Amino acid sequence: MVDMNEFYQSADWKSEKHVPVLSIEGPVKKGEWVKVSAQIGKEIGHPNKTEHHIAWIKLFFHPKGEKYPYEIGQANFNAHGASVQGPDTSSIYTHHQALFMFKTDKPGTLIAESYCNIHGVWKNEHEISF
Ligand SMILES: [Fe+2]
Repeated sequence: MVDMNEFYQSADWKSEKHVPVLSIEGPVKKGEWVKVSAQIGKEIGHPNKTEHHIAWIKLFFHPKGEKYPYEIGQANFNAHGASVQGPDTSSIYTHHQALFMFKTDKPGTLIAESYCNIHGVWKNEHEISF
């Protein structure tokens, strides 16, 4: 069986442009909505072309001490310039940034995955505590 952990990339986001960077708005409070922004390469961007783009970001929450993570959501970025005239001709592109909202009574870890169509799956984590 293939172990997905062997495929994850997670180099420092300051020198890479694939890692999903998570930003939390305001202080996190138990049981209250948390706004989580997920984007690629906060300081260094990533190409958004038909032949090279970020296709999706997925967000999970793993409560501390529990066995299973919970999927918060997934944002698909589906427009990357393709049209009947060919690659990069439509002028329509989806930007690779998403805003998720979730709440929990439990501390734990947010886990974000991003997928580049040619450079694979990338991962980042963010601790949630009260
Ligand atoms: Fe890439």
